[in-house]
Amino acid sequence: MQRAAETQEWVANITRQAAFTRGYSPLSAAILDCLAGWLAGRLAVGLAVGADGVAAEVEALRRRFLAFVGARRWDNDLEPILKLAATLHSHVLRGDPRVAGLRPYYRTVSDSDTADAASPDEPAFAGELLAALSALGDDLLVEAEGWVMQTNETARGVIWLLPAALLQIEAAYLVELGASAGLNLLADLRRFDLRWADGEGLTLGHGEASQFQIECEGPRPSLPSRVRPPEIVARVGADARVVDLDAPDAETQLAACIWGDQPRRMQRLREALELRRGLRGTPQAARMLRARLPDETDELLRAAVPVHPVAPVILFDTYVTAYFNDVDHRALVRAVEAFARPWTLRHQLSWLWVRFEPARAGETQAPQIGWCRWWVEVWTQGQRHTVELGWAHPHCVHLSFGPGLAALARLRGPE
Ligand SMILES: C[S@@+](CC[C@H](N)C(=O)[O-])C[C@H]1O[C@@H](n2cnc3c(N)ncnc32)[C@H](O)[C@@H]1O
Repeated sequence: MQRAAETQEWVANITRQAAFTRGYSPLSAAILDCLAGWLAGRLAVGLAVGADGVAAEVEALRRRFLAFVGARRWDNDLEPILKLAATLHSHVLRGDPRVAGLRPYYRTVSDSDTADAASPDEPAFAGELLAALSALGDDLLVEAEGWVMQTNETARGVIWLLPAALLQIEAAYLVELGASAGLNLLADLRRFDLRWADGEGLTLGHGEASQFQIECEGPRPSLPSRVRPPEIVARVGADARVVDLDAPDAETQLAACIWGDQPRRMQRLREALELRRGLRGTPQAARMLRARLPDETDELLRAAVPVHPVAPVILFDTYVTAYFNDVDHRALVRAVEAFARPWTLRHQLSWLWVRFEPARAGETQAPQIGWCRWWVEVWTQGQRHTVELGWAHPHCVHLSFGPGLAALARLRGPE
């Protein structure tokens, strides 16, 4: 009886997630639809009904799934599903022959122009998914149980590059809070093309080949069409759970957290990983530190910024404080202020804190669901200015600026 109620709850939960996911990842939605259907006892989601083995395979899958979700307490309903999806994707990325039948559906490994590329809407998909899940069997669940969800969205590098351009910063120490694998610390070496509907554009970063194409609305910064990024004197990233990309298989694990039908995001991540590998052992490589915020903010900033600095600091965080309660968030703001203000007075250098985070309860709501607020705190000579730049899609494919763009540029003072 209890088992039946638990099953129904999971069917409802997975169906909800499928509806939510459909708009941006049809492949993930198709996987969830199949799973919900099988759990609910609907065999015929594209399967050869009546074929002997199928009913037994679905029943085995149902039992394994329920044992998996019931085996421990999860932080939220989404967690076990995301872990399963990422684990499955990692097998596809590694070319595991047990999931070979799924490769045509994953744009992250199959080019949509190739002859074997297939759509998850096709009837054969359910059979291939069932075959892959059955072949992986308990291996999939054991790996999913221990899977650490960790993402690093490399489009977010534009978040600090643009304020640096507006303020015409020539050199800076770059410090990231909640840096994950630290890939956004390399944004100056990549290329971001910002485009407004009237055809106006702005290119940021040293990268030559086209990479990030970003649609913009609202005012356009009064800058030349290509702006040289600041020289980065040192790059430091901090995270409570730093991703060690030198660990075996770490790159694949990070890549597997991208949806299987988002090839462009995957390509951008691969470029960032390659860039990072090329910098390993050089002074331009990012130094990654383990730090739990807000408690270790002061120690971290002491470790990240030299005693005798020669350039301003650009501190930034992207999609990190959504994991903080309000008390911790206020403590973080106090800790950064307590460090930055006297620092700017002592060294006569400015300190930027660029922030890109989902709105907190009680703040102005985002113009579109899920978008992040983008704002900059600037300390110069002990004075603190807060400038709202605008809002953006969490993957920075779309930026929406407000009057803060001009207000920030004014802070650079007379030419
Ligand atoms: C969604 S990820 C974003 C990573 C990266 N900033 C990006 O935009 O791709 C959130 C990151 O914040 C880190 N994080 C969460 N709470 C933290 C805390 N209290 N102290 C330090 N890092 C934290 C997580 O470990 C994770 O790497």
